[in-house]
Amino acid sequence: MSYQITISQSGREKIFQVETGADLLEIINKSDFYLPSYCGGQGICGKCRVLMRPEPEAKDPEREMLSSQEIQVGVRLACLHQVESDLEIEIEEGGEINILTGEEEVSCSLSPGWQQSYLKIEEPELYDQRSYLTRVFEKAGCRSIEPRALDRLEDIVEGKFGPMGKGSDNNSRSKSTQALAAVIQDEKVVDLRSADRPGRLLGAAVDIGTTTLVFYLLDLESGRQLAVDSAYNPQKKFGADVITRVQHTQGNPEGINELRDTLVKALNRGLVDTAAKVGSGTDDIYRLTLAGNTIMLHTLLGKDCEKIARSPFVPLFSEQLSFRPEALSLKLNPGGEVELLPSISGYVGADITADMLATGVGDSPEYQLLIDIGTNGEIALGRNDKIYACSVAAGPSFEGGNISSGMAALPGAVDSFKVFDDDLEYTTIKKEKPRGICGSGLLDLIGGLLEIGIITETGALQQPGSMPEFWQKRYQELEEVKALKLFSEGESQGEREIYLTQKDIRQFQLAKGAIRAGIEILQQEADISKEEIKDVYLVGGFANYLAPEMACRIGMVPEVLSDRIQQAGNGAGAGARMMLLNRKLAEKARELKEKTSYLELSSNMKFQEEFTSQMSF
Ligand code: FES
Repeated sequence: MSYQITISQSGREKIFQVETGADLLEIINKSDFYLPSYCGGQGICGKCRVLMRPEPEAKDPEREMLSSQEIQVGVRLACLHQVESDLEIEIEEGGEINILTGEEEVSCSLSPGWQQSYLKIEEPELYDQRSYLTRVFEKAGCRSIEPRALDRLEDIVEGKFGPMGKGSDNNSRSKSTQALAAVIQDEKVVDLRSADRPGRLLGAAVDIGTTTLVFYLLDLESGRQLAVDSAYNPQKKFGADVITRVQHTQGNPEGINELRDTLVKALNRGLVDTAAKVGSGTDDIYRLTLAGNTIMLHTLLGKDCEKIARSPFVPLFSEQLSFRPEALSLKLNPGGEVELLPSISGYVGADITADMLATGVGDSPEYQLLIDIGTNGEIALGRNDKIYACSVAAGPSFEGGNISSGMAALPGAVDSFKVFDDDLEYTTIKKEKPRGICGSGLLDLIGGLLEIGIITETGALQQPGSMPEFWQKRYQELEEVKALKLFSEGESQGEREIYLTQKDIRQFQLAKGAIRAGIEILQQEADISKEEIKDVYLVGGFANYLAPEMACRIGMVPEVLSDRIQQAGNGAGAGARMMLLNRKLAEKARELKEKTSYLELSSNMKFQEEFTSQMSF
């Protein structure tokens, strides 16, 4: 039996016919609507909230994770329900996530390995029987041609672009000539056009994040950045993080193809849209560079990534690879090239190599530290002769996952707090009423509560008797868990009370402890003091919005480095663009990979000890 499901979000509505028993979260995820699902549908994160009509009986996990007010108005967790009747589903405003695109142009010398040359070739005559192609090769300084460009030459010779014009040369003999625009890669003619209708020579760089995709379009002749676009990574429908996506492929032979096809489709859509922004088509894009974590790059190639998820965590490839667009079904000029930046290991991906290219880590005689914070925290410490890198499981806390009132950096997320004995100031994204707390807000809140003594150095929330009156009034126990109520139902969006609980603080401690322990282990491995670290680069979305002094206050970054911190924005996007503009950086990326030693921390006893001791503030 089939039922009608109507889904709406932000004024958009779609209707689906689905069979009885169909999984509601799966239906939403396969649509174009945004619904967070951090636990991949296991019913434990409480983030897949939707408004359902008619509302089904609330299930036990919903009674634990939703307020009675929410249950009463029909809020339910999509992953816990199957379709058993016609349904109307309303998803909260998704809004545009604050995707860190890094719109500022990158600076590096221009040497993409591609050029567009204007040539004048002469019409053959009886006394000059060189072939048309010989004439092109001689003028262009080339030795080979793509079949497609040869087709174009044939069209030009046959006058499909108009008759040959009359030109003159220094022999005083009048000759017919044709002006051509040739797109050349190294010594190969890749494309040919009539010079009065030349195309553009464009390149694209994409940062393939687990959550978001960021597209950059650049002019390969001038080096100028022409357009930037971003989108969610639609693979999210298979799980919010890389591990749940890998799980989707386990015991499911079609799983990896589904991940690949979903990503390829999104990349193609992004390339088309970004090119359209400047009035071009994807045929004008000749070079594409891609940065992303190792699992994302494996899924792009449709390669098994299961081995990365289990010991000894070995990827199929980590090298820099080049492909023709058709090999990856990507839409750019068929004669173009696609280049994947090299990864370091299964959990330190090409995004980190790109971060290093962009920040210069690994290029200086002085030690520099790079911290890329997401679900995993990737950390690199090194100088021009040696780099050490590791990955730590930071958990999704910084992105709003497994935090009772946590959320992604969407409109309405509290992104900063100022904590006082008798007041709490805050700002929200897009100045909307609070809907939840995103990573930078959580950092400010916990750091601020620590400063006024409401959270102890061990991370415990004080007893209410030891709190100033303003905070005493906010103290509650939710099923025996200590909590502070930050916003009441009336103060927030969606009739939701917003809390910080003792469990949230513990989750946060796990994340910050893991990052700090990773820094300590790398420093020990490099056998240097903290004073020898001259620069600290924080990269990635959360890192870019956090307050560096708070990162030090809570001990995520050593205090002694507080005046050396730079927020480097979307380093992966910047590195991919640099590589797009300068092909020689491919060599540098390879060198970075070669001089980086990856430290596996999952079985490292010293890391476990550090982790335990770094949990405290
Ligand atoms: S609770 Fe539904 S996706 Fe996590």
